[in-house]
Amino acid sequence: MSSISQFIHRINKNIGRTMAVDHYHISRTLAAFEKNKAAVSFKKLLQLQKRINNSVQHYERRAKSIPPLRFPPDLPICTKKNEIISAIQKKQTLIITGETGSGKTTQIPKMCLAAGRGLRGLIGLTQPRRIAATSIASRIAFEVGEPGGKSVIYKIRFEEKASAEPLIKVMTDGILLAETVSDPLLLAYDTIIVDEAHERSLNIDFILGFLRTLTTKRKDLKLIITSATIDTAKFSAAFDQAPVIEVSGRMYPVEVRYQPVDPVAEENGEATYVDYAISCVETLQKERRYDDILIFMPTEQDIRETCERLSKRCSGLVLPLYARLSGSQQRLVFEPAGKQKIIVATNIAETSLTIPGIKYVIDAGLARQLEYNPRSQTTGLPVKPVSRSSAEQRKGRCGRVQNGICIRLYSAEDYADRPLYTAPEIMRSNLAGVILKMISLNLGPVHNFPFIDSPLPKSIRDGLDILRDLGAIEKNTADTEADTYQFTATGRSMAQLPLDPRIARILIESQKEGCVNEVAVIAAALSIQDPRERPYDKTEQAAKAHALFQHPESDFLTYLSIWNHYHDIWEKLQTQNKLRKFCHEHFLSYKRMTEWRDIYQQIISIISGNKTAKRSQKHTPLEIDQIIYDKIHKCILVGYLSQIAQKKEKNFYLAAKSREVMLYPGSGLFNHGGPWIVAAEPPPISKANGWRNWVGTTAVILTRKPIGRKTADRLSPPKR
Ligand code: CDP
Ligand code: MG
Repeated sequence: MSSISQFIHRINKNIGRTMAVDHYHISRTLAAFEKNKAAVSFKKLLQLQKRINNSVQHYERRAKSIPPLRFPPDLPICTKKNEIISAIQKKQTLIITGETGSGKTTQIPKMCLAAGRGLRGLIGLTQPRRIAATSIASRIAFEVGEPGGKSVIYKIRFEEKASAEPLIKVMTDGILLAETVSDPLLLAYDTIIVDEAHERSLNIDFILGFLRTLTTKRKDLKLIITSATIDTAKFSAAFDQAPVIEVSGRMYPVEVRYQPVDPVAEENGEATYVDYAISCVETLQKERRYDDILIFMPTEQDIRETCERLSKRCSGLVLPLYARLSGSQQRLVFEPAGKQKIIVATNIAETSLTIPGIKYVIDAGLARQLEYNPRSQTTGLPVKPVSRSSAEQRKGRCGRVQNGICIRLYSAEDYADRPLYTAPEIMRSNLAGVILKMISLNLGPVHNFPFIDSPLPKSIRDGLDILRDLGAIEKNTADTEADTYQFTATGRSMAQLPLDPRIARILIESQKEGCVNEVAVIAAALSIQDPRERPYDKTEQAAKAHALFQHPESDFLTYLSIWNHYHDIWEKLQTQNKLRKFCHEHFLSYKRMTEWRDIYQQIISIISGNKTAKRSQKHTPLEIDQIIYDKIHKCILVGYLSQIAQKKEKNFYLAAKSREVMLYPGSGLFNHGGPWIVAAEPPPISKANGWRNWVGTTAVILTRKPIGRKTADRLSPPKR
């Protein structure tokens, strides 16, 4: 049937002008035709022809819809415009690095259009943050002379701006990842730009790994990775020695001043970085310096406090900037104010958003950073010192248009002691949580995934163990490969809570038991460092103060009792200074107490469906009675099933896997633990011999009913 060969020949001439998604289906149909020519009917040929014609028309419509592209000549990236466009045309993957503000995010999508991309599919631009995604979409639309939502669209969680014929789509990396589930070849796109790749969040690493495989399957897909000036060699190596183009921006000199917060005063609650930042602004204003100021603070709570106090004490327009702010509030930051702007931001202003005209930066040097504690096997978001490269980025925010001054609220020695870079999130994560996410994204077995930096095999095995313990996963029987897993129903619900898997499991149980509030308080406490202080020279006084909170049968409930006391005082005193005093007198860290409250709010907002948490909920003391004791501990048991232990003799217990453990002397159960206990912290795994301290939050399990057969089997004593 030579007419089929002719037909195929004709089609192949047109196929370069079809949409990527059609191309894929057309190629598959053609391959089937070639294989079995006898089965090809005239009708099938006509259908195919129609699809091709429609697709070519679609392509041509898009080609005509390209808006005029202008490139502001003063942006550093525009000096390399031709080099970049030609590299996009010639290479499959390209890495572009340059200073914040050099024009990477806003100009590269337009350069892709100029290189002929965006016709066979969308140009997808990913952003680590929602706030950046929306503001960048409107900026690019503005630059091509359109209102938002025509050629440039955006999509973030819970919010989308769509259009009939978009060319560029800005989205969070989470959205692109979710799309890989429904469109595993990402056929909606012909080009993908992964922006801010240096951030190395889990999402970015998932996307890069996913694209490493995808670019070998889809040779027509172009990939551009942009990054601050780090990690480029690693990215290049991961993508077949992809070329790196460096954009050097002009920087004005920035003077660095160190005004460290006194650590003693801070811990005593006498002066914090918020106080210091405010006094820095006052000093600048006294010196009649009225250019714009950018202040970096670690948490929303700090930002709100700083803004409130600054508005009362200083002139100028004080503006907060953090991820959960509404769009209109965010926009104020970028608009001219006609007077001095004082912007108080999280690390969101570090690289992903360029705020024009900043002359002074005040840097608390801290950020909330995800951290996995392998000892307690929980993940938290503690406030930690930022790396040197982050501190340098922050400093750079005031040297874009003129000389600047950067005031660091920490010492030069502290700066020098910090690590150069923040480790990639995968290296700081609980692998159990990572595996859970990877299953929900269909990314295949962890040990086969082409990570830029692979986690250790042992961490992977431990992660799988935890998930099996929690009943979240089971072996995939359909797959003969040894190590593939699928969700159980519980696992599927757990994957919807972006929390540590054990905590997610406990919270799911608490919804069934009807004690979410209490369990959320405990879960938040387990995610931070113990708020109780035990200074070495005042151990007795501290112990005495803490005895007020101690619950005789459960350290978990001791947390509830601390929470209740703290909130009673909070309701009565209202002012921060008095609350600080209360914490100081009761040997509680004010900082960690605030963090506890913050994380509790986050957990509640996640559970209640991600609606922004109510800021100051009226506090009702949490009742601790027998019924609630049972309920709470039932939930805890489900999460820490592998951490149950049976009493051998006073304070000495035998835990799962024959581990011998001892009650921590600081535990409320010390000297009167019951026959069975559960602990939030597993015993150290090394050194199987000898009784090991079980440093941790422990509770007596009230065994009114005999313990289940299955549990008893797991806990059977070692044979010697
Ligand atoms: O991505 P990169 O940090 O290299 O720069 P960019 O975000 O593309 O910003 C380039 C320039 O566009 C900046 O100097 C900003 O002044 C401007 N811009 C803006 O005015 N409004 C935005 N929403 C984003 C950028
Ligand atoms: Mg950028």
